Amino acid sequence: MSGKAVEKITPLSAAHAEGWIAAGRLDEIPRAGARVIRTSVGDIALFRTLDDHVFALRDRCPHQGGPLSQGIVYGHKVACPMHNWSIELESGAAVAPDEGRTACFPVRVEGDMVYLALAR
Ligand code: FES
Repeated sequence: MSGKAVEKITPLSAAHAEGWIAAGRLDEIPRAGARVIRTSVGDIALFRTLDDHVFALRDRCPHQGGPLSQGIVYGHKVACPMHNWSIELESGAAVAPDEGRTACFPVRVEGDMVYLALAR
């Protein structure tokens, strides 16, 4: 044995065929946490909730642009680290009485891979 690691090759999935992009492995996103990926439309935060749902939002709070990826994930919301606004992970909308919305992107999980659609 050479001891050289063999890279796992992901088969071409239905997601690829429909124009989704691979956004990494599910286990690269901590539970109740986030991971940022750089894309052609800017930084996108991938959030993974405790119940293993994955959501994608632009990594900018609708208030003053705080990095939502560094916030506290609770339920299906994230609390912005700057001034503690709560943002709905499914819609990107600020929870009342705050107002505003950050862009959200469709996500799908196939096996251990996460796919993202950038166009909305
Ligand atoms: S920048 Fe997010 S709450 Fe102010």
